[in-house]
Amino acid sequence: MHEATLLGGGPGWTIHSIRPPGRKYCSTVSLTLPASWYRDPAVFERERQSVWRSEWLMYAPAAKLDTPGQYVAEEVAGFPVFVVVAPDGSLRGYHNVCPHRAGVIVWPGDGTAGNLVCRYHGWAFGWDGGLKAARDFGDDPGLCPSDNTLVAIHVERWRNLVFVHLGEDPPPLADALAPFALECEAFDMEAMTYGHRLVRVLACNWKTYADNYLEGYHVPLIHPSLNRALDMSTYRVEVPDESYCIHRADTAEGSPSGGAWLFRYPNLAVNVYADGMNVERIVPAGHGTTHVVYDYFATDPDQIEAMVEMSNVVLDEDQMMCEVVQRNLDAGIYRAGRLSPKHENSVGWFQRRVASALGERS
Ligand code: FES
Ligand SMILES: [Fe+2]
Repeated sequence: MHEATLLGGGPGWTIHSIRPPGRKYCSTVSLTLPASWYRDPAVFERERQSVWRSEWLMYAPAAKLDTPGQYVAEEVAGFPVFVVVAPDGSLRGYHNVCPHRAGVIVWPGDGTAGNLVCRYHGWAFGWDGGLKAARDFGDDPGLCPSDNTLVAIHVERWRNLVFVHLGEDPPPLADALAPFALECEAFDMEAMTYGHRLVRVLACNWKTYADNYLEGYHVPLIHPSLNRALDMSTYRVEVPDESYCIHRADTAEGSPSGGAWLFRYPNLAVNVYADGMNVERIVPAGHGTTHVVYDYFATDPDQIEAMVEMSNVVLDEDQMMCEVVQRNLDAGIYRAGRLSPKHENSVGWFQRRVASALGERS
């Protein structure tokens, strides 16, 4: 597709750049991904397999899944899945797709299910996903229960969050999260009550929003209130490990922010403080539509309204810019650009991870 140049690497990942055909650069070390990757449905289809089925993904606050029968059914990158609490208290996850004729087992959203019965024609499944009964099906000796099970996904809990993995043989969640989890160890997340969800639908590719999230370079230009609150001369983003990065900045008064602002590849941002946190996910709903989902937790639930208000201000500003950038990426004039070594190192890290997942390496 594009010329891929091997430039170096780190533990488990490779530094390389993608050069659009016919374009010359003095150096390719800090070149962005090609604009076409942000608008091409075929690239998104490859990402669905190579990115979204290859990583543990935060799926829901554990508070939504703590009683037998409770379920959460949401799409992840075009995969409709659900997680449910079985009668024995264990978490089970399945694609929300019936093996008969692709009906849904539970309606999308949150709810409670006493059993797993398809909403379309009423086939019943056990909590292990096995077919128990094909309602009033008729006599067909060819109907083999083992060929008609729900397709399972992997589900694990980390602290007060539930994660899913849609691929084969994932590493244990604790291993996958280890370095990221260490950054959160000092914070008593379990003492925080889950309080609110905010969902924003953006007309842009998921990487357009992720790129924007990963740098503070734009803060003085588009976030006036954030710019007043922080000493932007101290703002930096570090990539301590191939799995995550961390934003740091002092407040305008000169003290450290006191929290941890973390981003785990491919789509999870956790902003955690001593008394509260917001957990943000960037969830593609197609190549040109992205859901930004915030879940808020606080030791004092009365704080949550102010947290949501602050997010809405910053999100309004980011949404406006991401959507206009997407229209420019779609216009076909911009092909690729250069990343600032001072401010956009983590954008380069994220884009290299995506390129590597898509097999764009030499
Ligand atoms: S599609 Fe599920 S029972 Fe028919
Ligand atoms: Fe921003």
